[in-house]
Amino acid sequence: MSEPTTAAAMPTARVAGCPFDPPEDLARLREDQPIAPMAYPDGHLGWLATSHALVRAVLADPRFSHRADLTHAPLGGTRMGEPRPAPPGIFTAMDPPEHTRYRHLLTGQFTVRRMRRLTGRIQEITAEHLDAMERHGPPVDLVEAFALPIPGLVICELLGVPTGERARFQDDMSKLLSLEVSPEEKIAAFTTLTEFMHALVLAKRADPADDLLSDLVNGTDLTDEELTNISGILMGAGFETTANMLALGAFALMSHPGQLAALQADRGLTDRAVEELLRYLSIVPGTVRAALEDVELGGRLVRAGQSVTVSIPAANRDPEHFADPDTLDLHRSAAGHVAFGHGIHQCLGQQLARVEMQVGIPALFARFPTLRLAVPPEEVPLRTDMMIYGVHRLPVTWDVAQDE
Ligand code: HEM
Repeated sequence: MSEPTTAAAMPTARVAGCPFDPPEDLARLREDQPIAPMAYPDGHLGWLATSHALVRAVLADPRFSHRADLTHAPLGGTRMGEPRPAPPGIFTAMDPPEHTRYRHLLTGQFTVRRMRRLTGRIQEITAEHLDAMERHGPPVDLVEAFALPIPGLVICELLGVPTGERARFQDDMSKLLSLEVSPEEKIAAFTTLTEFMHALVLAKRADPADDLLSDLVNGTDLTDEELTNISGILMGAGFETTANMLALGAFALMSHPGQLAALQADRGLTDRAVEELLRYLSIVPGTVRAALEDVELGGRLVRAGQSVTVSIPAANRDPEHFADPDTLDLHRSAAGHVAFGHGIHQCLGQQLARVEMQVGIPALFARFPTLRLAVPPEEVPLRTDMMIYGVHRLPVTWDVAQDE
């Protein structure tokens, strides 16, 4: 076992012309050093795990913590200041037993009844946006017309945010997820969002409705501060992630016409297609844990206190787990992919995200069977500057039927 001697930063650059493939350096690392020394932007010397087996091992191991005051941020610009303990309610950055308590309260809210009702609303919201696209006519920016508003409205629906308020939080949310916005701007955006969510919590206490936030406000002993922070997490975690899967997913399908034709010919392929797109595109670059004690991992010694970043794109393209991993194959079983993470912090909203994609993607290509890019693929602006990968804009066009 050896400790790190040299370390490089986490490879994130996508290669021009291959918008769907992770950086080549990740594949090289997975082959040569699936657990490799990594230099963190704050100067910390930690590790990067790239194989499917090691990524899952780290995420399932209670000796690795997700506490905000112990982990070092793997990408620049992801933190608003020094590491410090998570504020009340920010369960994503807590370990058991605190994490377990919040998670239990929230899992109880994602009921079959609520999911079923949301599915109906997702179908309606999707149809409304496709109608609007049709009325507008080509070309449109698919991000603005489809991919961003649908998950935004679904989160509003889930939490009980008046839908007219969506635009108010969309910009602030983007700033929080940007790698290039200054810490001051982030703090300002965070403050505005927190004030918005706090006002919403107070409104739900005064006038409860049939939504997740009202149930949490009135059915649990969570404080206003906890409720405000939990709402902020759900907004943040559920909005841009799904939006980017819808947009990048559509881009990937338009770039693989054979796969798109297979999906259009057989709606029964939808569930597999969604899992494969999640695996193939891996829009979340990774997540980080800190060792609570010395841990031997893949033949290396991770010292107590060191951070280990796990690369989700590298794990999801690991040939040891997925045959021919760099091929988009909607017929394959992508079971075991880690696009939603793994272990106790595995995505809380994954069923909701799946429904949004299972409804949205086939409906888009059924309504516009000739949908295609309106610009050359290399002109599509990629989100290489954001914590969640995807596209900033996706100009698309389609053939309009001539009636007369
Ligand atoms: C956690 C991905 C949609 C809420 C996660 C994690 C990943 C992820 C990778 C694990 C993070 C970690 O271990 O550090 C995605 C993707 C989505 C999506 C790719 C869309 C395609 C959603 C939606 C919601 C949501 C729609 C909510 C409505 C959460 C929450 C957590 C989480 C609350 C933290 C869970 C915990 O710490 O216990 N997500 N997510 N996500 N996600 Fe998602």
